[in-house]
Amino acid sequence: MKIKIQRKKASNKENYFEEFDVKHEETILNSLIEVKTKHDNSLAFRCGCKTGICGSCAIRVNGIEKLACKTHLNENDIIEPIKNTQVIKDLVVNLDYEGRVLKNSNSFLNQLSDVEITAEDEKLIDRQSNCILCQSCFSSCPVFEVNEKFLGPYALTRALRYVEDKKEANPSPTLEKIQNNGIWDCTLCGNCTIVCPQFIDPKTDIMNLRMKSVQNGYEDKSMNSFNGGFDTGFDNFGGFNPNSF
Ligand code: FES
Repeated sequence: MKIKIQRKKASNKENYFEEFDVKHEETILNSLIEVKTKHDNSLAFRCGCKTGICGSCAIRVNGIEKLACKTHLNENDIIEPIKNTQVIKDLVVNLDYEGRVLKNSNSFLNQLSDVEITAEDEKLIDRQSNCILCQSCFSSCPVFEVNEKFLGPYALTRALRYVEDKKEANPSPTLEKIQNNGIWDCTLCGNCTIVCPQFIDPKTDIMNLRMKSVQNGYEDKSMNSFNGGFDTGFDNFGGFNPNSF
């Protein structure tokens, strides 16, 4: 079977594609390992658990974000590194931004509440807690093309996880932090939801954060300039905003 892999040497700025013949090794990760062990030991890629848990093997297959260890190889598959970050070598990218976006979105517990947590409360944030930080959603997001400071889907999903967490006594700092370069910058295209290997739905999480923000007195400031400063009396969900009058 043929597989095409995007290469980039650390010393070379140019990307190029290299084609390899591999046995049908079920997963793309196994094929990458075969290329490295039998054809070219300079091939660079990340992997850890090999079972879809650690999130380190995210790549793009024919333009779509996938986990290499959970994706079957097909003839002539084109393998590229994830987008919206700098490629260090071949399929290995710089992940320095991860800590920055989590910090900038205040995605952590601000103040521990002393309320008793029930199993129902835990279920509220169960799906968001399953994020493995694979960066697939980050790579699929078109907003970074126009705003490189955008917090991105997984940081906002995490923000909702902590805003909804009943252990959180004060979610206000998190809501405050996601107003700029955050929830209002999202185009709601849904790419992030489509590519998430954990079936998390950042698009819906962002809409929920918008709703919670409006309930807490925030608004999408860009809509005011879009309307030429004229307040329509409608909020950004197309609903009537009684505070406008
Ligand atoms: Fe851990 Fe693929 S190697 S998710």
